Amino acid sequence: MKTADVRRDIPLLEDVIYLDAASTTPTPRPVVDAMCDYFYNYNANTGRGAYRLAVKASHKLDEAREKIARFVNSHPDEIIFTKNTTEAINMVAHGLEFEEGDNIVVPNIEHHSNLVPWLNLRSKGVELRVVNADENGVVDPDAVEKAVDENTRLISITHISNSIGSVQPVEEIAKIANKTGALYLVDVAQSAGHISVDVKKLGADFIAFPGHKGLLGPVGTGFLYCTRNAQEKLQPLNLGGGTVDQVTEDDFKLTEAPYCFEAGTQNIAGCIGLGASIDYLKRIGMHKIEKHSQKLTRFMYQEILDLEKVTVYGSPENIYGIVSFNIDNINPHDLAKILDESRSICVRSGFHCAIPSMRHIGAYELGGTVRASIHYYNTREELEILVETLKKVSKFLV
Ligand code: ALA
Repeated sequence: MKTADVRRDIPLLEDVIYLDAASTTPTPRPVVDAMCDYFYNYNANTGRGAYRLAVKASHKLDEAREKIARFVNSHPDEIIFTKNTTEAINMVAHGLEFEEGDNIVVPNIEHHSNLVPWLNLRSKGVELRVVNADENGVVDPDAVEKAVDENTRLISITHISNSIGSVQPVEEIAKIANKTGALYLVDVAQSAGHISVDVKKLGADFIAFPGHKGLLGPVGTGFLYCTRNAQEKLQPLNLGGGTVDQVTEDDFKLTEAPYCFEAGTQNIAGCIGLGASIDYLKRIGMHKIEKHSQKLTRFMYQEILDLEKVTVYGSPENIYGIVSFNIDNINPHDLAKILDESRSICVRSGFHCAIPSMRHIGAYELGGTVRASIHYYNTREELEILVETLKKVSKFLV
């Protein structure tokens, strides 16, 4: 599939220049159609009913899980549905039994969702060891290794920074975790669906995926990849229907994974939509997405860098899919509104739920940054309009 084919499947792209994939991506028609098919034709609960409609819904949900598992080189039992990446990370933060004296190692450029759940564990006597990234927002594996000791229970890191777009050396850090016996969590909120994520290659115990960003699935979807070993260490976040095999007035016996981690009725339509989005990405081809995004990211970075009075964050060799910038000392929200109101350009502005990261790159006092983020549906022409509009703003200031 070509970019033009994908654009035809996303009608809203006719009206706006959508450069906010890092927040959420618009849902292509075949994904919406798969959800409509559920709503119109077999809208029943899963894992419960014996009637044919319910059996069909269960089968479709299983099928979605299988597609997802194959796509990330995993097994369906290792895929736990969640409503987003944040919930997946919280499942780990609440589900592992941390003890006083344990420590967790995390970089300082993380999204709040990969920081606040760990900060919260300090009330249990868990120490948080925050490792500073370099000036380009990249974490040095040596710095991680120095922070780790025999009490390190977990290392948690993002694959691609949501605020700067810097790609982290996640495979090198996996080796450190494996060597020391620490558990390892990778947040792939900004990489899944943008670059191929192979869970075996990544070598993490937990990988938190969004459904609604790079994977082009619907909002309200995501999943936690969790190895069988790690599942043994994890208590479910929620208990109730669907999580147990046996219950008496005194006790209960949990059912097997992944179902013991998925209490209550799931977002069935959303998960089936996510399965359809995996089919869709395969039709495009991940290698084509990677090539396209790499080219556009480089183009956007360089063109914005060449403007007057502009600061662009991160280094061009190391960012992917996201370009974060400021023009002079214009408040990022004001600049985002100018882009929207003049050319219907949608970008995120502000702190990007990553205040420590904004402080790290020196953008906090400015009110954060403006962030443009792309996917396969974006074109070079759209980025030229972005640059041309930014040029007018920066010239006005000179
Ligand atoms: N985590 C999303 C972002 O970075 C919402 O914009």
